[in-house]
Order: sequence, then structure tokens, then C-alpha cells
Amino acid sequence: MDRLRAFSIVFGVALASLIFVACGGNEDASTAAPDAEPTSTTQASASAEGTSTDTTGDSATAISFASDVQPIIEQNCVSCHSNTGPGTTHLEMATVNDVASIADFVAVRVEDKQMPPWPQSGLQEISYQYDLSMSDDDRQTIIDWAAAGAPLDVDATTPLAATSQAYPPIDADLVVTAGSPYPGSEKTDDYRCRILDPGFEDTSWVTSIETRVDETRVLHHSLIYRLPASLRGEADAVDGADGQPGWTCQTLPRFSRGLLEQIAGWAPGNGPITMPEGSGLRMEAGDAFVVQWHYHYDGEALPDDSGLAIELADEAELAAAGGALAPVTQRILLTPAEIPCASYESGPLCDRNAALARLSGEFGIESAFIANLINDRCGVSADDFAQFTEGVASSSCDVPAPQGQVVSMWPHMHELGTTYRLTLNPGTPDEKLLIDIDRWDFQWQMGYYPVEPLVFESGDRLQIECGWDRALWPAGLESRYIVWAEGTQDEMCFTGIAIR
Ligand code: HEC
Repeated sequence: MDRLRAFSIVFGVALASLIFVACGGNEDASTAAPDAEPTSTTQASASAEGTSTDTTGDSATAISFASDVQPIIEQNCVSCHSNTGPGTTHLEMATVNDVASIADFVAVRVEDKQMPPWPQSGLQEISYQYDLSMSDDDRQTIIDWAAAGAPLDVDATTPLAATSQAYPPIDADLVVTAGSPYPGSEKTDDYRCRILDPGFEDTSWVTSIETRVDETRVLHHSLIYRLPASLRGEADAVDGADGQPGWTCQTLPRFSRGLLEQIAGWAPGNGPITMPEGSGLRMEAGDAFVVQWHYHYDGEALPDDSGLAIELADEAELAAAGGALAPVTQRILLTPAEIPCASYESGPLCDRNAALARLSGEFGIESAFIANLINDRCGVSADDFAQFTEGVASSSCDVPAPQGQVVSMWPHMHELGTTYRLTLNPGTPDEKLLIDIDRWDFQWQMGYYPVEPLVFESGDRLQIECGWDRALWPAGLESRYIVWAEGTQDEMCFTGIAIR
């Protein structure tokens, strides 16, 4: 009983942290980079024009844009960087010139493996749906082409067309919004909960769910919860109470009977969430969604009316499954995060107790217990982390695997995170590396959906490993001992597993 309660606190805080974290760091990176474009535009388009009719290149080694580069871009980039794709507001790839004019900028992103976004190393031993990774050869082709001065053998105005979709669209049965746009506010970061009511009159099974973003310039992240019909009255009571649609929900949506159950989420670049054949999210008559939208306003507070597109199991699917699908549920596995100050840092908050006291002041008393609780559960103590004096720290935890078929796995750390690894049955002949992220990217926190059925059996164990680097600590911010907690500058090592 106690364990359960402790766990639900941790669970709640863990999720609450997603609210803070998943977006906190986005702003700088995504708004700073576009400034790099204008300077190079004129210069590079001039070079593009100059070479478009130039046939003097030596044909043995010359890279043809039309036959070598364009197919790679159209296959790996354009679906996200055109129309309503998530990258379009950052960089639109409508014509050849859109890429050629900033070829060096594109090549850097490709060389750094930041684009296409796929943070896994390639060492993982299972394959995933929506694997966006690109071959080293294709990567090199883009880099070589840019290095050669981005020559074109097609007209710069040639339109680019996606030949593959990063995320295949779902066949939506309904699209639900809150019914009125949220106008925005004066806050820089505004966490707003809205009720989205699909009007379910019977038990319904959601088999795919996709966040349809209305205003990409302000929406940074969202978390989707189930609002049971029995709590609708309480939600209606807070909805609009401050004169604006919805309500402020900086922490998890919580009503008299506890926290709402999180069923999905969205971050830039995420596609639809599709349940494996024969499974779904169960919604009862009268159940609705509460979506916590995290808005970030850099300047203007633009209105947003984002919604959810939903695919439901039809009669035939239900009949084939014997009347009901297998329900998908979420499990959360927590692993310690302890990152002591490096030997070159000092200050009062480098003392762990002082850092914990600061946390309880900031987020409430329970946040100071979580770090110790997770350490206990994983059989370690703060002393085990004292060896990390160089600013680089890591932790691991070996836990029983939740039983069932894995729908998706969601690693989560904050901004100091560098590596994440999930291993099934470590140290046994059945050992299997499931996820290996060698360059954690706070902006690309993905859910990983196995292609082949991955089933955790009774007795299976999971080892979770996280790594951090204090070199990523924001310059000018007071040094402190970092523990597992919910602030963006605190850290986590968190694994969500959706299972059926
Ligand atoms: C899954 C969707 C997706 C795919 C696939 C994708 N991008 Fe992106 N791209 C984004 C998003 C979203 C951003 C903005 C956030 C970021 O920088 O991570 C972005 C940012 C960029 C930027 C920086 C733009 C700026 O001004 O900051 C470049 C350059 C870029 N992408 C190039 C590419 C190239 C080249 C490819 C293909 C090799 C590609 N992208 C594939 C979604 C995608």
C-alpha cells in the first residue's frame, strides 16, 4: 500500500515534470537557428544560378543534384519540411532553391546527425516503426554536394515533392478540438488544459491518435489525458473560471479522485500514435480528453485551436477481437539521476542536502523525497555517485520488465542528458539492446514502436542506463548538486512503456 502510494506520487511528479521539461529548452535552439538563413540566401542562390547551366564539372566524380541529391532530400526531409510538416516553420523545402541556397547549413545538420531526427546509434538490436535514420552514404552525398558548392543541374525553381512520409497519416474517424481557440496570454510559457470531447455514446476503442497542430509557432508540447465521465463536472467547474477558455495547469491535471491517466503526448516531430493490431485505448460513454497544451510565446501570443484526430476500431475489428480489444496501459520505470558538482565547481547548493532543501521549497516537500526513493528502489545511495567528480555522471537500474506486448517505449531525460540505453535481460544469453541513444536530444524525445512484436515475459528484466554531462549546464546559472526532480534544470532518467 505504502509502496503504491509512493509510486503514484513519483509517477505523478514524473509526468508533471514532462510538462516543465519537454518544452523548456526548445525555444533557444529553434528560434536562434533560422537567423542563420538570410545571410547565406543571396550568396548561395547566386552560386546555384551560376552552376545550373554549368556543365564543366568533371563528370567522373561530379554529384548530380537531380539524380543523387534530390531523391535523398525528397525521401528523407521534404515531408516534414513542407506543407503542414513539423519542420516547415523552421525551414520550408518547397523548391530546389530552398535547399540549395542554404546547402552548408543543411549539410551541418546532416553531418551532426541532427537531421533527419533519429537519436538512436544504430546498435539497437530491434527495428522500429518510423525509423527516420539515413544511411551514411546518403549523408555523405549531401555533405559532398554542399562542399562542392551546391551545384545544380535542375532549375532552382523546381518544386520538391516528398516521396515518403515520415509518419504515414492516419485514417481519422473524427477530429476533436476544444471548440474555441485559446487566444494566448502574456506569459512566456503558458500551460493550458482544455477539455476535448469526442462525444462518445458507447464504449469506444481508440486505435490511433494524432495531434493536429493549428499554430506551430506557439505550440511546443502537449500531454493527452483521459477524463472519465465521472469527473466531467469537476473539470467543467474550472474550465473558463479565469475568464479564458480552459484552465491553467502547470502541474498534472488532478481532480478529487486523483490524477488523470495520461494516454498520449506530442512533441515537435512526433507523428500519430497507432496501437498494434487488436489493441486500443478504451474510452467509456461520456469520457473525454483533457489536453495540456504547452504554449511558448516569443513575442506575439497567437491563438491556437489544435486538436486530436482519432481513429476508432470499427465493428469488424471489434468482432474479430471477440467484442473488445486488448487495452493499452502505461508503465513508468524510474532510474536514479544524481549528478554531483564537478571538482571545478563550488557553491552552497553543491551540497546535496542543500539542493534537496531548495527543491522542497520550489516544488513541495515530496519532491525532496523522490530522489532518495528512487535510489532505494534501485539499491543505490547518493554515496555511489560521489565518484563522479569530472562533471560526467551515469546511473543504472535493473528492474522486472512489465509483462505484455510492448506498444512503445518512451525514454525521458532533461537537458544535461547525453546517453540512454535500455537492455533486456542483461548479462544473460538472451541479452538484447532495445534502445541505444548516443546523443540524447531534448528536442527529439520520441516514442519507439517496435516493428516485430516484442513481448516481455514473466522473469524478464530490464536495465535502464542514463548518462549526463554538466558541460551542458547553462552558463551563468549557479552550480548545484542535481538530483531527480521536476524542474527543467533538475534531471530525470525515466522510461515510459505502453504495453498491452
Ligand atoms: C520528422 C520530421 C523531420 C524530418 C524527417 C526532417 N526534419 Fe529537419 N527539422 C524538423 C523540425 C521540427 C525542425 C526544427 C526543430 C529542430 O531544429 O530540431 C527541423 C530543423 C531543421 C533545420 C534547421 C532549420 C532552422 O532554421 O533551425 C535544418 C537545416 C533541417 N531541419 C534540415 C533537414 C534535412 C536536410 C532533412 C533530411 C535529411 C530533415 N531536416 C528531415 C523536422 C524534420
